Amino acid sequence: MSEETTSEPLGELALQTLAMPKDTNANGDIFGGWLVSQMDLAAGIISKKATKGRSTTVAIQNVTFLRPVSVGSTVSCYCYVVKRGRTSVHIAVDVRTSHQLNQIDNLKVAEGLFVFVAIDDEGKPRPLPD
Ligand SMILES: CC(C)(COP(=O)(O)OP(=O)(O)OC[C@H]1O[C@@H](n2cnc3c(N)ncnc32)[C@H](O)[C@@H]1OP(=O)(O)O)[C@@H](O)C(=O)NCCC(=O)NCCS
Repeated sequence: MSEETTSEPLGELALQTLAMPKDTNANGDIFGGWLVSQMDLAAGIISKKATKGRSTTVAIQNVTFLRPVSVGSTVSCYCYVVKRGRTSVHIAVDVRTSHQLNQIDNLKVAEGLFVFVAIDDEGKPRPLPD
């Protein structure tokens, strides 16, 4: 197992959930689309703090699935702000899984960069707060 998949995650734990049987793909592992959705939710929580209000996902970049996720795994999404622009914020997401029965702990299974834009009541970009 590479050092990259077992090293300590960077950032704060933004979201933790359980991988359920309804979220599987044809191989019986967890569906990638479900995982991206969890990553988007986690980054959205961090974006809400960073933008102090409404924001929306404008881009999802470089999502990589490093390992399959099995049903029953605890899925933890760690996030940190990589870059702040005028209206946008770039948030790195690092996904870890733990599975007691399979003796897996803190295994990095996916990563990606999520770009959010702070928006006003009309859905138009607004400058980030200080
Ligand atoms: C997000 C949205 C409000 C941006 O509106 P816009 O008029 O295109 O805004 P701008 O061109 O002024 O760009 C706003 C910021 O987003 C950044 N941005 C725009 N497209 C981007 C892309 N593809 N990748 C990375 N950043 C991007 C710009 O660089 C800019 O950042 P900055 O102000 O920090 O320099 C608009 O595109 C939108 O409503 N999209 C739908 C969002 C949505 O529904 N998401 C949920 C998933 S369906």
